[in-house]
Amino acid sequence: MQGKRTLLIMSLPIALALVIPLLALVQQPGAISLPEGDGAELVSTSCVGCHSLERTLSRGRSAEGWEQTVNGMVSRGAQILSADAEIIIAYLAEHFGVDFVPPREQRIMVWVDRQGKMEPLPAPPQHYYLPRLSPDTQQIAVEVHREKPDIWIYDIPTGEMRQLTHEGTNRFPLWSPDGQRVLFSSDRHQEASKGRRVFFNDHDVYWKSADGSGKAERLTYGELNHGPQRWTPNGKTLSFYEIHPETGRDIWMLPLQGERKPWLFLKTPVLEGGIAFSADGNWMAHTSEETGRREIVVRAFPKAQPMHQVSVNGGIEVVWPHQSKELFYRFGNKRMAVEITTTPTLTVGTPRVLFEGNYVNSPGSRASWDATPDGQRFLLLKKVE
Ligand code: HEC
Repeated sequence: MQGKRTLLIMSLPIALALVIPLLALVQQPGAISLPEGDGAELVSTSCVGCHSLERTLSRGRSAEGWEQTVNGMVSRGAQILSADAEIIIAYLAEHFGVDFVPPREQRIMVWVDRQGKMEPLPAPPQHYYLPRLSPDTQQIAVEVHREKPDIWIYDIPTGEMRQLTHEGTNRFPLWSPDGQRVLFSSDRHQEASKGRRVFFNDHDVYWKSADGSGKAERLTYGELNHGPQRWTPNGKTLSFYEIHPETGRDIWMLPLQGERKPWLFLKTPVLEGGIAFSADGNWMAHTSEETGRREIVVRAFPKAQPMHQVSVNGGIEVVWPHQSKELFYRFGNKRMAVEITTTPTLTVGTPRVLFEGNYVNSPGSRASWDATPDGQRFLLLKKVE
């Protein structure tokens, strides 16, 4: 027993040096597999009875952390001999140390037509999020989560995929109306001296040339978190969110001409997120929690009143293409279409189901799908089974 413990302690530093090459092994797309080694067998039999291996390996831990976890499992009823527990702890610490990043869900980008017929794009499966079609529909700006989230550009005609952002964590892509730039949220300004950057502690809006040339320019400042939402149709003003500790997500406007002085459009005690403008720029649709449930509403812009409810039993992830008579949103697994006219007065039709299907949903109110300007084809994400 004593001899074994010494051996384990001595082998740990060597083991940690091996973590990096072994990580490559575990990070194959798809399900988690256990790298070979003393303990793999034990883990595969002792740590899967009550929950999945994915749960066991949901994040990396230090040797101490694993010791606590395994002891915790024993107190929850896992029957593990103490000698086996030591082997398990050493194995987990060796292969799933603090640097371990669990493999991400693999997704593909797909076109879906109005009948719900799906056609995959030939881009490689990755952990995609928030695909955004360029104004000319030839390119897609999308979040790709590898070691960290970054913005990538996928060129539809050539199938070429290139990384646009490198420094810091970069999320929530949005094309400029002329298609020349991509906006995103980044934590790159966080001082390295304050230790590891944490995106949700402090992020602001940046933009960068879509061809990757030049430096990114920061557009928003302040203590609170900011991210890009949509452009007014005249291309002059960017709407962005601010996450406020008391009022949740509020909607701000940033004129990109003159002094670039931001102004507040909407602040209520509840969430307002996931916005889209009408083609004439006189109305803004967004997700609101004012009724106690997330619904899509349309309100006058820039006056904010009057307001009309669009969805009926709940709605989220609004998309409002500018050459389409319809506004689209998600309700559960259904993609809904509503006819809306804005001239001479606002009329809101009855929502109907356009198509239904199991696609990747946005965890929040921001749309994680997009549509062609005519509202005939949709760009969605599909999990690779
Ligand atoms: C007898 C059933 C049982 C067995 C066997 C078992 N677990 Fe668990 N495990 C649980 C339960 C119950 C939870 C949920 C507890 C919670 O969420 O607080 C859990 C949760 C976890 C979690 C997530 C919670 C956390 O601490 O982050 C990890 C990691 C984990 N188990 C690791 C292991 C490992 C490693 C083994 C093998 C040594 C193991 N489990 C074997 C019952 C078990």
